[in-house]
Amino acid sequence: MTDLRSDTITQPSAAMRKAMAEAETGDDVLREDPTVRKLEEQAAALTGKEAALFTPSGTFANQLALFTWCPKGGEVYLSEYSHIVQHETGASAHISGAFLRCFVPSNGHWAEWDDIAPRIRTVKDVHFPRPALICLENALSDGTVQPIASLASIKVKAEKAGLPVHLDGARMFNAACYLKTEAAAMAQQADSLMFCLSKGLGAPVGSLLCGTRDFIGEARYKRKIMGGGMRQAGILAAAGLIALREELPRLGEDHQKARELAAAFEGFDAVFDVINPVPDINMVFLRLRRGGKKREQLFLKLLADADVRAYPPEGGVFRFVTHRDLSKAQLIGVLKILPRIAEALK
Ligand SMILES: Cc1ncc(COP(=O)(O)O)c(C=O)c1O
Repeated sequence: MTDLRSDTITQPSAAMRKAMAEAETGDDVLREDPTVRKLEEQAAALTGKEAALFTPSGTFANQLALFTWCPKGGEVYLSEYSHIVQHETGASAHISGAFLRCFVPSNGHWAEWDDIAPRIRTVKDVHFPRPALICLENALSDGTVQPIASLASIKVKAEKAGLPVHLDGARMFNAACYLKTEAAAMAQQADSLMFCLSKGLGAPVGSLLCGTRDFIGEARYKRKIMGGGMRQAGILAAAGLIALREELPRLGEDHQKARELAAAFEGFDAVFDVINPVPDINMVFLRLRRGGKKREQLFLKLLADADVRAYPPEGGVFRFVTHRDLSKAQLIGVLKILPRIAEALK
């Protein structure tokens, strides 16, 4: 089975399993787990932040950031398309009580200051929520990457407006790889950020929230409130350390696979409308030129018959994700079945 649903479906590598089995552990709520501490130190060093905190998931880390930055009802400025808005089950309503004030990015992808600024309350008024936070995302859920200069411009202006910036960097190392920059250069444009170990980096579990020592100290307390104080979590952190050492340097290979896949779909442009013919990261997005529910179902069935798994489309858009467990042979296999599938969809 070739699985193109997500980069979250990868299995822990042999090196991860070995490291997990041999991990030195302790009670991390008491801060006695040396492996978690090591992972947090490495995450802080990689992102150029003072401190980091291990969390069970990316959603957890994002929501913890909101919970830590925002008083109840505090207003958060973020894109309508962001993961926090679209795919985190409305968690801020349950956890932080932060009020999400959305905008549609005028460039169709990422936020620019001109999208954010008109939303920010500049006067105190009994009717208004209080401005609390700006949230950005890189790489974006649509597979594009926001340039550093654009992030930097927002950071400077946010600072002037007295607002902190949180970066959802679930795939920030993919973004850094695309931008050919250090992750810290991107992290510098945010006051807090989170990245995931369990996506392109292939670890089974975990994300890291990074920021100043004070911010992370407060987040540690709020993590406990959320039930995220983990005990011998070094078992999980051990896989994360392998992910940072062995998987991070190879993310570019996944991007190359996505480019090959996109180019192959492009070869049948009478059938497929490829939205990103040259993907920035490890995701290919496309629509069927002749759409409709029935044809979308047929496409999924043709893929399934050829042992290829894909998620159903969202709003007519299919997403295919490359990852470490997609072998060269499997990719070639997908490229080989495309002519037949395209013919059937004509
Ligand atoms: C941009 C972005 N942010 C946050 C998350 C949440 O991560 P998790 O699935 O670990 O909760 C995801 C997951 O795909 C994501 O793509």
